[in-house]
Amino acid sequence: MSQLEDLMRPHMAKIASYHGVDPSVELARKAGIKPEEVIRLNANENPYGAFDKITDALTNLDLHLYPDIQQRKLRAALSEYTNQPVERIVAGAGGDEIIDLLMRLFVERGQKVIDCKPTFGMYAFSANMADAEIVSVPRNSSWDIDIPAMLEVIDESARIVFLASPNNPTGNLLTESDACALLDTGLVVCVDETYYEFSGSTLCHLLEEYENLVILRSFSKWAGIAGLRVGYAIASANLIQHLLDIKQPYNINIAGEAAVLAALEHKEELLERASSLVEQRKRLEDAIGEMEGISYYPSEGNFLLCRFDRRTAEEAYAGLAEHGIFVRKFSQSVLDASLRMSAGTPEQTDRLIDALRIVV
Ligand SMILES: Cc1ncc(COP(=O)(O)O)c(C=O)c1O
Repeated sequence: MSQLEDLMRPHMAKIASYHGVDPSVELARKAGIKPEEVIRLNANENPYGAFDKITDALTNLDLHLYPDIQQRKLRAALSEYTNQPVERIVAGAGGDEIIDLLMRLFVERGQKVIDCKPTFGMYAFSANMADAEIVSVPRNSSWDIDIPAMLEVIDESARIVFLASPNNPTGNLLTESDACALLDTGLVVCVDETYYEFSGSTLCHLLEEYENLVILRSFSKWAGIAGLRVGYAIASANLIQHLLDIKQPYNINIAGEAAVLAALEHKEELLERASSLVEQRKRLEDAIGEMEGISYYPSEGNFLLCRFDRRTAEEAYAGLAEHGIFVRKFSQSVLDASLRMSAGTPEQTDRLIDALRIVV
């Protein structure tokens, strides 16, 4: 190590960077195609693009002013949308920031953070940043969480459990009884409902009963503003006040705030887009159901995890990329024959189905 690394916090100096998605230009360069030929089905983004009423709301903003530290307008609008009191809501720069804030608030070096693999990679990434011990308990063959195995790893040093519902990439929901079994341990349980607007399923009602429950939501997917980075947490007023106290003061920028206000003002149209994406996912399911060599796991999100019988994920990924279609592959061995495909527009779904028929 050079001298500079010697000065760094040791766990930070050797942290593995997060592998997110490449820009379309980069995907095109690697595949030897034109950027406009790229079909991005690799990040569960909204394929309909930016919603025009949101884009319109981004003009003439007071960009010279700092945003409101208390997020008053934003939290009031979120309160109306979620039907939860303002005191129970805080916004973050994407759900990602909320995950990071929860680590900062609850987890000290060496303490346990628990998730259930395969799952969203940011829980482990943020746990590593906190120099925590990430314990990833394997899911069973239907991707449900394994409560006895989880209870076994929960000890004095365990602080927080992260459970996505629907889970990314497997698409299944967390059951209420499993959530309660973990909430009853007294640990903080973050139920990540980033895909709520697609699943229509929430455990928000448990907030009345549990002060240790955090519900995480996002505007990245259904509202199509992944690029503006806004998510939020709903939890007990006590927990939320602590998150407000420790967050970066101006974490939500003026554009993000304006975009969310516009999205909520026109939520019906955006929710219609979300349900059309669910329709496209179902079309994909039907088509795959008739193909040989590929199957899918039931999903409640805007994505589908598919398993190839005759190809490795790597081969299938490369085959789809030749058609300009980019999906998500994973490094975990349990997923080495699987790819996650985001729901696209009807035209993109047609292209995906045609390409799959050739690639499987
Ligand atoms: C399960 C889950 N949680 C959280 C996020 C983070 O979303 P964002 O930070 O864009 O709000 C994602 C994004 O893919 C996700 O899949």
